[in-house]
Amino acid sequence: MGFGFFGSVLILSLFFKPLACQQPNTDAFFISEFLKNMGLTSSPLFNFSAPVCSWQGVFCDAKKEHVVEFLASGLGLSGSIPDTTIGKLSKLQTLDLSNNKITSFPSDFWSLGSLKLLNLSLNKISGPLPSNVGNFGVLETIDLSSNNFSGEIPAAVSSLVSLRVLKLERNGFEGSIPPGIMSCQSLYFIDLSMNKLDGPLPDGFGAAYPKLKTLNLAGNGIQGRDSDFSLMKSITVLNISGNSFQGTVMGVFQELLEVMDLSKNQFQGHISQNHLSGRIPLLTIKNLQVLDMSRNNLSGEIPASLLEKLPWMESYNFSYNNLTLCATEFSPETFQSHFSGSLDSCPIAANPGSFSKKSLQPQGIKAFSGLSPFRCFHACWTAISCLWL
Ligand SMILES: *[C@@H]1O[C@H](CO)[C@@H](O)[C@H](O)[C@H]1NC(C)=O
Ligand SMILES: *[C@@H]1O[C@H](CO)[C@@H](O)[C@H](O)[C@H]1NC(C)=O
Ligand SMILES: *[C@@H]1O[C@H](CO)[C@@H](O)[C@H](O)[C@H]1NC(C)=O
Ligand SMILES: *[C@@H]1O[C@H](CO)[C@@H](O)[C@H](O)[C@H]1NC(C)=O
Ligand SMILES: *[C@@H]1O[C@H](CO)[C@@H](O)[C@H](O)[C@H]1NC(C)=O
Ligand SMILES: *[C@@H]1O[C@H](CO)[C@@H](O)[C@H](O)[C@H]1NC(C)=O
Ligand SMILES: *[C@@H]1O[C@H](CO)[C@@H](O)[C@H](O)[C@H]1NC(C)=O
Repeated sequence: MGFGFFGSVLILSLFFKPLACQQPNTDAFFISEFLKNMGLTSSPLFNFSAPVCSWQGVFCDAKKEHVVEFLASGLGLSGSIPDTTIGKLSKLQTLDLSNNKITSFPSDFWSLGSLKLLNLSLNKISGPLPSNVGNFGVLETIDLSSNNFSGEIPAAVSSLVSLRVLKLERNGFEGSIPPGIMSCQSLYFIDLSMNKLDGPLPDGFGAAYPKLKTLNLAGNGIQGRDSDFSLMKSITVLNISGNSFQGTVMGVFQELLEVMDLSKNQFQGHISQNHLSGRIPLLTIKNLQVLDMSRNNLSGEIPASLLEKLPWMESYNFSYNNLTLCATEFSPETFQSHFSGSLDSCPIAANPGSFSKKSLQPQGIKAFSGLSPFRCFHACWTAISCLWL
């Protein structure tokens, strides 16, 4: 018992070594001052007597002189970052302070001109994002998501010409998206969802990003039209749910889309058969996996080219529209859950329950599986035996 007690005291004193004094104006000093001031006076993760380059989450340059990477995610660091700490790490390229309780930046933070990756997500930073963020000319990734930022996205983002990933979601950013953001032409991932942004997308936004793969604008009050997306040729994930986009939903389809959420907007337009025959590009959505068109004002028929893809998709939802539908391939349950509010207007589908998939499967079903979905869909109109689709 007694030995156990002394044993644990010994172990604690080995692991929870208090911060040793560091030479002033060294990276070791700046980091230890930072940790000390943010409430981490001792930690089993840091042996402060050892050289800074050996500390947990600290990576140095080849000469072991300067810290180039500092990863301190989820350490319970709290409060305002003081001056003459992190902001003085002159060669810092990667800074991950995510998932702490940081409340504000130090004034010298903006001199970190070598930063390539900045992750401050899941903290408690409030107030506007200073224009000084434009000093980070080589920044490639910025993640400020899940904080309490307010005010406009600063126009100075136009200086972040190397930016590839921009994550500002789940904050209180207001106003319009600044046109300067279109200078960041290397962006392939943009998430501005769940803010208070409004106003239109800047003119030319759709054509500004040749490499854009993911765009999430969900949960704002952004206004725009289907045509805003017509030039996004590389987009694979598009989420514009919960905004004020208008126009025809058809205008939004792009060849490479895999996930698309257009729900809770003001898309309109009659998707008539005639209209569709002029809209063959729909057939080029090869890999669409998730499609949510619920709660819009769509009417008319669901285009055949889209219907034929549904059995291969992970999920889809057309509920709460005014669509008409030939529901032969869908079980009554699917019709209820994915097409709620649609009119089952197809004569042969008047009683979809009477066409049970199994009983209609022809013996030679394997032969059908070799057909492309497109061929098979067309076969359906001539031979009901294809209902296994
Ligand atoms: C901490 O670092 C010092 C100096 O490198 C070393 O002597 C000591 O054993 C280390 N302590 C632990 C608990 O690793
Ligand atoms: C930032 O950190 C959070 C939490 O640790 C993580 O989930 C997220 O992927 C990181 N962001 C980037 C862009 O790496
Ligand atoms: C978030 O920011 C707003 C306005 O800047 C402020 O009134 C509010 O107290 C902040 N909330 C938290 C949880 O910090
Ligand atoms: C679109 O974003 C909203 C808000 O973040 C989210 O709730 C929704 O699940 C997203 N849609 C898809 C298909 O991921
Ligand atoms: C849908 O259309 C109806 C009737 O035209 C209109 O009253 C309603 O405001 C529209 N809803 C939306 C979300 O556009
Ligand atoms: C829904 O569609 C039906 C049949 O096409 C039409 O009579 C009705 O006016 C439409 N309702 C709305 C709100 O658009
Ligand atoms: C379809 O969307 C509606 C409204 O957004 C929702 O209530 C319903 O649960 C969704 N159905 C499925 C299967 O996701």
